[in-house]
Parts: sequence; structure tokens; C-alpha cells
Amino acid sequence: MHNVTSDNITDVFLSYFGNDTDPRLVEVMTSLATHLHAFAKETKLTHQEWQVGLDILRRAGEITTPERDEFVLLSDVLGLSSLVDMINSPEKGTSSSVLGPFHISNPPAMDLGADLKQHFDGELVLVKGKITDTDDKPIAGATLDIWQTAPNGLYSSQDPEQDTYSFHALFTTNENGEYYFTTVRPVCYTVPTDGPVGDMLNATGRHPWRPSHLHYIIKAAGYRSLVTEVFPDDDPYLNQDTVFGVRDDLIMQYVKCPASEFPDSGFDMSGKVSDDFSVVEFDLSLSPDPAA
Ligand code: BEZ
Ligand code: FE
Repeated sequence: MHNVTSDNITDVFLSYFGNDTDPRLVEVMTSLATHLHAFAKETKLTHQEWQVGLDILRRAGEITTPERDEFVLLSDVLGLSSLVDMINSPEKGTSSSVLGPFHISNPPAMDLGADLKQHFDGELVLVKGKITDTDDKPIAGATLDIWQTAPNGLYSSQDPEQDTYSFHALFTTNENGEYYFTTVRPVCYTVPTDGPVGDMLNATGRHPWRPSHLHYIIKAAGYRSLVTEVFPDDDPYLNQDTVFGVRDDLIMQYVKCPASEFPDSGFDMSGKVSDDFSVVEFDLSLSPDPAA
């Protein structure tokens, strides 16, 4: 076709696929081109606006390193990461949520009852719960990879003052599917704003905050791995997470307790608690692995 027009350009694009192209790739690229062309036509995109878009991608490439991926962040703040996550989630079981860039591989294995708070300031929080299947049957031997911000709002990989694995741990559920440990409250924080994504948030009048949360990756043989986060009900950003990660079933509560109610044994902190603390009880359920 040599007379390409704004009316036929999408059809011309679709006619260019080779015969042997993977059918799923054809499906995805057909939809992408159709929506992209429709978007440009609907908005009557100008040259200058098109350049702004390309410039965001160019700058994202420049700022991206193995430790910091601006393209993932762009996907996060556009809601695409959460949408892909929701589309691919099983119908049953605890909801998944975004992984984020601050997970570290091979966190140290810790015994149940270990303390992540150590010398950090802030109220002690006892986190406990059960990992079950979707019929409420406890799963023994499930692993929980847990990570969170320190009280200064930074993950260890962002903070030269913290050890590599500070506030990162791997727990294994006991024979009743239970997990428990102590920590300090994670705090709300901003996603990185010193790149093109920050400029985009600013230009569109959006804030960069995420509500505070505790990250989990839960794995157990025969079940789908669950990547998720748990948010307190009193966080000021609960209803406006800039990366769209909050789901109804991922909301927890801090329950205040006097020091006298802290368990006498079973925790690193047993016998050492003299101030009020909070308890978070949060159960999570895994759906079966269809491939198992
Ligand atoms: C996080 O929860 O760690 C996170 C998720 C998306 C973007 C930035 C941070
Ligand atoms: Fe996070």
C-alpha cells in the first residue's frame, strides 16, 4: 500500500505481519497498534506532545540501572503494573500486589519469633497469622519473605546507614501454618521522584506517596507463589496509593496492647518488653498451583 492515510494506517500496519509470526504476538501487537493509533487520533497529538512522550522514555533509559528501573516505575504510576497483576491473579486466595524495586534476593532465614526492629526507634509491633489454602487448611513449611521500610522511610538498599538485610527476613510456617515475629511500624514513603516519572507526577498534579506496608512473598510446594503487601487501615495514603496497590483484603489493623500482654516465651523480645506494643494479626491464603 503506497497511499497511507490516517484512516487506513492501522490496517496497513496489520497487513505487514509475516505469515509465520507467533499468533499471540500478532494479537498483542494488533491491539497495541490499534489503541496507539486511536489514542493519537482522539487527542490530535501534536509533534511537540509526541516529543515530550519520547523524551520521558529517553530519560527513563538514561536513569535506569540494575538497581533502579524507571520503566517499571513508569508502569507502576500509570497503573499498568497493578492491572497486569490483577488480570493474572487467581480468583481465589489473598490478593496479590506490586513487588516494587526494593526486594533483595536470599534474605536471611530467621526463626519464628525473631525481631526485625533491633535498635531502631519506634513502637514494637508483633505480627502474626496463618498461611492456609483456599479451604482454610493450614500450610506447614510455607516460606514468607518479608521486607519493609525502616522508621526513616527508607529500604535498606536506599540507605547507607542500614545493613544490607536490615528489615528483610525469611520465615517458615510451623506445623499449624503459623508465622510470627516482631518489628516496628513501616512508614509511608514516596516513590523516587528525581527522574522523568517524578516530573510526570508533578506535571499532572499527583503526589508520589505510597501508604505504609509490609511486603510478603509466600511460597509453598503445590501452591501459586503470592507476592503481596499488607496496609494498615489508618494510613493517610490508603485511598491514594500512587502505584494502585491497595486491595480491600490487604488491609490490617494495629491493636494496642499493654507490655504485660507480650508473650513470656517464643519471641526474641520475650521478657524484654516494658512499653505498650501493637499486634497485627493477618492470615493469608494461597491458591493451588495449576501446574502442580
Ligand atoms: C514498593 O512498594 O516498594 C514500591 C512499589 C512500586 C514503586 C516503588 C516502590
Ligand atoms: Fe514498598
